[in-house]
Amino acid sequence: MTTPRRVTVALTGASGVQYGLRLIECLVAAEVEVSVLISKAAHVVIATETSFKLPAAPAKLAAELVERFAAAPEQIKVYGKEDWFAPVASGSGAPAAMVICPCSGGTLSALATGASNNLIERAGDVALKERRQLIIVPRETPLHAVHLEHMLTLTRMGAVIMPAAPGFYHQPQSVADLVDFIVARILDQLGVEQSLIASWGANTR
Ligand SMILES: Cc1cc2nc3c(=O)[nH]c(=O)nc-3n(C[C@H](O)[C@H](O)[C@H](O)COP(=O)(O)O)c2cc1C
Repeated sequence: MTTPRRVTVALTGASGVQYGLRLIECLVAAEVEVSVLISKAAHVVIATETSFKLPAAPAKLAAELVERFAAAPEQIKVYGKEDWFAPVASGSGAPAAMVICPCSGGTLSALATGASNNLIERAGDVALKERRQLIIVPRETPLHAVHLEHMLTLTRMGAVIMPAAPGFYHQPQSVADLVDFIVARILDQLGVEQSLIASWGANTR
């Protein structure tokens, strides 16, 4: 397994920001450099669903995440929604993999139609056009036909759709266990070694 050196993680305004925050934490622990993008709506969801008090300004947010996740000083980079000169905005600078976790129906739609109206959408567009690894973790229920069509469109374009739908066969004892189920499967997709949840067949018989 070759661990990626750099990964982009985007949090959008769907419920389940805990998945994205835990993913950043695990990537940092695996010594991956993480480019973080957080939408305005995601900040609202973070304030609603967690006790995190995250500043909006990218530099302050980066410093906060570095401290919270005990990262090396340059290991976490945060870019603003219209920072078009960020490395993630171009195929020549973007990391080999991007994860949008959680992904709102709005961002899903923008990706499926190539909207690119903010840096998250642009970075996703770059990943698709460059045929890089793009993992999308949508969270919505129920789903209407357009949601489903967008997921099919993006799958056909090479993205991997991983709905935030944890399994229960590891007998979760806490919300953290459920979060770790999804994060473990994302890390598996990225090729980052993880010991959060065993792979199928290791202890499920
Ligand atoms: C607490 C909260 C929970 C939300 N949950 C979802 C959700 O699960 N799925 C979704 O698609 N949108 C959800 N939304 C709505 C999105 O945040 C909204 O559509 C927003 O425009 C998405 O913008 P973004 O994709 O730029 O982050 C939620 C909003 C709030 C405030």
